[in-house]
Order: sequence, then structure tokens, then C-alpha cells
Amino acid sequence: MKKPVTKVVFPVAGLGTRFLPATKAIPKEMLPIADRPLIQYAVQEARQAGITDFIFVTGAMNRPLLKSHFSENPSLNTFLRERGKTTELNLVAETVIEPDRLHFCSQDKPLGLGHAVWCAREFVAGEPFAVILPDDLISAEPGCLKQMMDVHSRLGGNVVAVENVAPDLTNRYGILDIASEDGPLVVARGLVEKPAPDKAPSTLSIIGRYILDDKVFEHLDKGVAGAGGEIQLTDAISATIGAGVPFHGLRFAGTRYDCGSMYGFVEANVTFGLQSSAHAEEIRAYLKNYLKRPV
Ligand code: UTP
Repeated sequence: MKKPVTKVVFPVAGLGTRFLPATKAIPKEMLPIADRPLIQYAVQEARQAGITDFIFVTGAMNRPLLKSHFSENPSLNTFLRERGKTTELNLVAETVIEPDRLHFCSQDKPLGLGHAVWCAREFVAGEPFAVILPDDLISAEPGCLKQMMDVHSRLGGNVVAVENVAPDLTNRYGILDIASEDGPLVVARGLVEKPAPDKAPSTLSIIGRYILDDKVFEHLDKGVAGAGGEIQLTDAISATIGAGVPFHGLRFAGTRYDCGSMYGFVEANVTFGLQSSAHAEEIRAYLKNYLKRPV
């Protein structure tokens, strides 16, 4: 029997420099797509996949905001109840994580994604765990992490979500060295972080969803910096391949929006805005008219 995955790590201690000045005082994961912050989509996806415990790896700025977003707000509830705003009351109730399931740890300096995950090591010790990067917003049914859980419950090991990127963009991603493929499932024999296009073993890139064996900490404990001088999570996954941990990529069914970039953020807001039943028609009508204007 594979150990069930019940814990998720959200590494959210990055500085979001591509989104300055918006991210000077508001962390990237609190920026809204349609009516809710990015991080809430990530928590919803994790819950749908069966996750019960949530840990946020934060810098100094974002912890109070995250804590208040996912905690009860009695005065807001009273206000909404008194005004009969039942829909809003329900929307607010959906955000709440039970206090004993909501956890935080600090990453004092953004030394890299691998380092951020390492900061959560005591929380996940001895168990497989999920990692979600909230700025990769994925629209999918069932959610991307649920699709990955189904693979993990059969095969165990490390499972990552993957998609093809343009050949000239491999130097922005962790790229898989493919051993074999079976439908959407890819068996990988290796992994290269941010390879130049002429050195890339494929164009299949890891996006921000991982289910990891806790053996990754054996490498992360060493604190070795990799590409870009950062402690890379992909290097830790790579190190476990030799240590006999199975490694699979899943070409998930769904659409990913890279909300860490301005283009992806706008793309997601337009898409989720058009999907919102309350406002879909007026947004569609506005866009049609707007696009008719001379450029
Ligand atoms: P990014 O590579 O997008 O970095 O991190 P960033 O700092 O958020 O944004 P830019 O590139 O400066 O605009 C991907 C995810 O990993 C987290 C980030 O918070 C984000 O959720 N991360 C990254 C950490 O938690 N710690 C790190 O040291 C690096």
C-alpha cells in the first residue's frame, strides 16, 4: 500500500519581481484572478485532491495576509449576516482552513524553490507530500493535483505535471529526459534545470505541481546551489532517480496559466472573468466592442 498524500506545501516566499510595483506590498499569490486570490485556487485544487493539511512557506510580508485570508473573520461574518448577504457569507466560509490544519514556516531569504521546500521538511517528514506553486493556475476537471494523485496511488515515487514548451524557451524550465511514454504518462530517466535550447533533452517541461517522495530531502539537506545560483528542487528530484525512486511526468488534461507573468495573469483574468456566470455576458460584450476600436 502506498502512503496516502495528505499534506501540501505552498512555497510563497519569492519576491515576485516580474510583478513590481504591484508586489511591493501585496504578495503575488494574493493578486486576484476574477473574484479570488491566486492562492485560493491552489487551496481549492489541493482540497479536491484529498489534501487535509496545508503549509505555507512564507517571507516576513505575506504571512499575516495569508493567515487572515484563511481564518474566520467574526466581525465580517456578523456584518454579512445582519445585511442578509448569504451568498457572500458562503463565499467567505469557503476560504476557511481549520486552525489546526493551517501551518506556516519561514524562508528568511529566497534562496530557491528547493530551499523553500526544505524549510517545510519537519512538517512533511517521513511522508510523500504535494507541492503547488500558486502562480501556475490550472483550469482542469478533475483538478491537476487529483489527476496526479491517481497516478501516485498506482505508481508511487515522484510525480510531476508536465507540458510541452516552445523549443526556444527550454532555458526557463526544468526539462525531462524521456525514457518512455504511455499515453499521458511519461517515464523520465533524468531532468535538467533550465537547459539552453540546443542542450535540452526534450521540450517537456515541469510546471508547478509535484508529488514528492521524502527522499528529496537527502539532497536538499546538502544545500547545494544549482542553475542560477539557486537551490533547485529539480536537482533534488534528479538525485532520487539514481536512488531507485520512480519518476513520472503526467501530461495533465487542462489549461495552465502562468500568472507569474503579465501575459498569463491577464489571460487568466479574461478567461476566468468570461467563465463567471454573473458577469460573463457583459465582459464578452465589452471585449467585442473594445477589440473593434482602431489600434
Ligand atoms: P518564481 O520563480 O516565480 O519567483 O517562484 P518569484 O520570486 O515568485 O517571482 P519573480 O521571478 O521574481 O517574478 C515560483 C514559486 O516559488 C516560490 C515563489 O514564491 C513562487 O510561488 N519561491 C521561489 C519561494 O518560495 N522561495 C524561493 O526562494 C523561490
